[in-house]
Amino acid sequence: MAAKQSLLCLFGGKSTEYKVSLMSASHVIPALDPQKYDVHLVGITENGKWYAYSGSLDAIADDTWHTHPQWLRRAVLSASFGDKTLYVESDTKNTFTPISIDVAVPVLHGANGEDGTVQGLLSLSGIPYVGPHCTASAVAMDKMFTRLILSHYNIPQVKTAYLFRSQIENDPETALDTAERVDAYPLFVKPANAGSSIGVSKASNREELRIALRTAASFDTKVLVEECIFGKEIECAVLGNENPTPSVPGEINPGSDFYDYDTKYITDTSEGFIPARIPKETAEQVQMYAKKIFEVLGCKGLSRVDFFVEDGSGRIIFNEINTLPGFTQISMYPKLWNYMGKPAQLLLDELIAYAYKANADV
Ligand SMILES: Nc1ncnc2c1ncn2[C@@H]1O[C@H](COP(=O)(O)OP(=O)(O)O)[C@@H](O)[C@H]1O
Ligand SMILES: [Mg+2]
Repeated sequence: MAAKQSLLCLFGGKSTEYKVSLMSASHVIPALDPQKYDVHLVGITENGKWYAYSGSLDAIADDTWHTHPQWLRRAVLSASFGDKTLYVESDTKNTFTPISIDVAVPVLHGANGEDGTVQGLLSLSGIPYVGPHCTASAVAMDKMFTRLILSHYNIPQVKTAYLFRSQIENDPETALDTAERVDAYPLFVKPANAGSSIGVSKASNREELRIALRTAASFDTKVLVEECIFGKEIECAVLGNENPTPSVPGEINPGSDFYDYDTKYITDTSEGFIPARIPKETAEQVQMYAKKIFEVLGCKGLSRVDFFVEDGSGRIIFNEINTLPGFTQISMYPKLWNYMGKPAQLLLDELIAYAYKANADV
């Protein structure tokens, strides 16, 4: 039998989506085939500290993993090119033991994990890893940069104004005037870099807009103000490197005012439909756009590309791309591939194979 691959699985992270990562990791870790992989878990605390973790899965799910010192050893990933080594503090705490790593699976969402930072470190170390590399991750995390690039490729998008924290703080009335020129109320306001709907608001008048701008600006220096689209939320999973494969599109019906954090992870009102309840030609066009967006941003391995299909007109409108999409029980990415005949274990095997291939192609 071939030797097992030494796999580094990262979870947690210094991000507003730390808890979402714990939910994703609780589903990814048990789906990694123990016959193929020697899994080395490294948990990153909300403060950004790295620990090799030898405890239970339950303690990851309930966020107590970092409270058990007997399961934690400080861990450092070497940035020395080609080292491919994780150094883990020994039991006596005087020395660090090297662990050779073949491949990494970053189960991280948002800042300091999905935004090119960890990707840069893994690239420096020479470790192949699942998901897009540094530049694509950083660009896709930033909704402003993503939109500016995609407008060059004529991808249909929502009408958007870009505002900066300094304008919002120093000249709020002008910022509000600029925002109001986007469209009639309601308007959507969001930070350029965020996820899981954190910092996203729907404003129905100038006073709500004022609060929404301040909220979004507390998460990022750049803020997007968008026309509100009334329609279906459609998500398409993409898998591969060059010439990637789009899944059938899925549909989310939040069952609330919009798909906010609570609707996503706390209440149970949202409903998913696989495949999406849209005409066949619309589904094919969504797949075509999803693949094109993945390619022009230079993604690798996986991404989930999200759209609206407007009521009435049937217009397809790009909303955002997630390069390390959620892998929780309710997440569309694993569900869509499961529907396409790839259950989580097989999907992870393929993602890992794409990681080696993308690394070899660099
Ligand atoms: N322009 C818009 N029109 C209508 N709904 C929107 C708009 N922008 C965001 N939303 C709603 O807010 C949710 C979160 O916004 P999104 O841009 O996807 O941010 P995040 O990266 O946090 O998921 C969407 O799933 C959708 O329900
Ligand atoms: Mg979203």
